Amino acid sequence: MLADKRILLIIGGGIAAYKCLDLIRRLRERGASVRVVMTPAAKEFVTPLSVGALSENPVHIDLFDLTQENEIGHIRLSREADLLVVAPATADLLAKMANGLCNDLATNVLLATDKPVLAAPAMNPRMWGHPATRRNVAQLSRDGVRFVGPNSGAMAERGEIGAGRMAEPMEILAAIEAHFEAVGEGRPLAGRRIVVTAGPTHEPIDPVRYIANRSSGKQGYALARAFAEAGATVTLVSGPVGLPDPEGVKVVRVETAREMLAAVEGALPADAAVMAAAVADWRVASEAAEKIKKGAGGAPHLDFVENPDILATVGRHPTLRPRLVVGFAAETENLLTNARAKLEKKGADLIVANDVSPETGIMGGDRNTVRIVETAGVTDWPDLPKDEVAERLAALIAERLG
Ligand code: C5P
Repeated sequence: MLADKRILLIIGGGIAAYKCLDLIRRLRERGASVRVVMTPAAKEFVTPLSVGALSENPVHIDLFDLTQENEIGHIRLSREADLLVVAPATADLLAKMANGLCNDLATNVLLATDKPVLAAPAMNPRMWGHPATRRNVAQLSRDGVRFVGPNSGAMAERGEIGAGRMAEPMEILAAIEAHFEAVGEGRPLAGRRIVVTAGPTHEPIDPVRYIANRSSGKQGYALARAFAEAGATVTLVSGPVGLPDPEGVKVVRVETAREMLAAVEGALPADAAVMAAAVADWRVASEAAEKIKKGAGGAPHLDFVENPDILATVGRHPTLRPRLVVGFAAETENLLTNARAKLEKKGADLIVANDVSPETGIMGGDRNTVRIVETAGVTDWPDLPKDEVAERLAALIAERLG
């Protein structure tokens, strides 16, 4: 699939640069041609000699290298590729990309290109979590830059743990292949990143008891599958359900609403968020450390506190709000009024509203009758299998993302 594909690899100055040698080798093995631009700082981590030998092409570093400019100028370099891959995408490189700065060959090429860009961030977890980096990543994501990783785990700095490790060469390779696969097939969500929530949450009362609801997760899983089939990179954040992982989807399993929120935030930035989970509105204020015993005191008294609203948090996120935020409204009365109110209250672009009165059999069933509620108006869809609702929603999201 990568045969004859032209990859322009931009190596940033980070310790993870050594992984690029393996990436180049694997790309070459698969028949891709690889041209490499290194930032001046990248030379401190890997030598142009080894990069050149593995890529079988001259390495480009200096913006003012006249010999190289004569052979291939930086503008041509940026255009004569099918995909630009930035790895490691350091905090500095991301900041420059987000703001259009260009003071070396790598950043000039990135500003001049008209080709898709895939970035593999790598930095210290605090730098990755810093509001400035969050803003830059959100901006780049809006500009159409795709991301692979970073992963969580031990860092080069001893004792530091958290998100910031560059994705492994095989993961970057998989993201590159997924990109070409999706583009090649012209799938409507090719290259999009979508976060989906599904299923119920379980809110513990004590070590053996919890509060839950009847959500089966079927609609959310069908959505994740449909988005992946339409070419998107999908993260499915799932509460406890008895469903197998959909193929080609990254699944993060959680129990509580708070865990679900953390997992969703960890999966951002994304082009769209589709929140289909039936999140428990409340949790018990303090989970008992031991199993609550039947006793002379009679039935226990439970105090509740409100759970975070994941949809509203994402819909009103100051820096990482996806371009399209979709919520669900499962109601047993006043369907439209409630759905419209949710659109406003939660900062969503679109609400999929459905009547879940027990007689409809929707909750836990295989079919769904939904109304699509947007500010511009309401569209009624017929009674459909949940898979088909998912396919239609995938098409609608592709249309709205443009
Ligand atoms: O307010 P209500 O629960 O009816 O809203 C339903 C929508 O909000 C669904 O999209 C659901 O996934 C989302 N939601 C959420 N977090 C909550 C409650 C609801 O994301 N705590």
